[in-house]
Amino acid sequence: MNKPLRESKGPRHVAIIMDGNGRWATMRGRPRLFGHHAGAKRVREVVEACPDLGIKYLTIFAFSTENWKRTQVEVAGLMSLFRRYISKEARALKERNVQVRFIGDRVRLDRKLTALMDELEQLTADCTGTNLTIALNYGGRDEVARATQRLAQDVADGKLDPADVDEETLPKYLDTHVLPDPDLVIRTSGEARISNFLLWQSAYAEYEFVDTLWPDFTGEELGRLVTSYGKRERRYGAVKT
Ligand code: FPP
Repeated sequence: MNKPLRESKGPRHVAIIMDGNGRWATMRGRPRLFGHHAGAKRVREVVEACPDLGIKYLTIFAFSTENWKRTQVEVAGLMSLFRRYISKEARALKERNVQVRFIGDRVRLDRKLTALMDELEQLTADCTGTNLTIALNYGGRDEVARATQRLAQDVADGKLDPADVDEETLPKYLDTHVLPDPDLVIRTSGEARISNFLLWQSAYAEYEFVDTLWPDFTGEELGRLVTSYGKRERRYGAVKT
């Protein structure tokens, strides 16, 4: 696929793996959930920093398909935190003109939570500012598998010819079908892994792995990463002309 060479400028779509909440809490002698609550506060600051940084799309990894392996206490605490976050932040997000979407498999999530997710998506559907996408029970491989299932169903129903399946077709079945690919993927806490996040979509993304633990990450640090991204040259596999 030939993509045009994009001028070096700020990223339009930033995706963040918010890592390090547990270590942040442990360092303070507190339970891991304390770190997740501190992390949730950072989400607001980072969302608010986006318009001034020219970030139109922000995607954050809140809970992965692998996170169910954590203790029952931590999983239940996170689910309750997501419910609280949505109820508490809904009005402010709407007022700030933020359009919220959720990606991931909702089937395993509890009804109360999915109802709140639907409500928030509907409430902010007409917002025209930052597009905030929250990945909840999300895994890149799971997303591709679910997309393939839907695609195969369309083939079985005679709606899609297998000969027409190409790089443009599959992304239409992904959870992210309305979003552009991320330009910059950031992971906090010093781990240099992508952990099943936006696998298909990040094929040409730039990566930044920073040591800061997520509850210490600020809008200012995001600004520095955006500036440094602007100095990189993205070639999408082409050579410099
Ligand atoms: C990874 O840190 C973080 C998570 C699994 C949860 C991310 C959730 C939040 C930041 C909470 C709020 C989010 C929203 C959308 C309200 P970790 O627990 O793996 O940290 P560790 O590697 O230090 O153990």
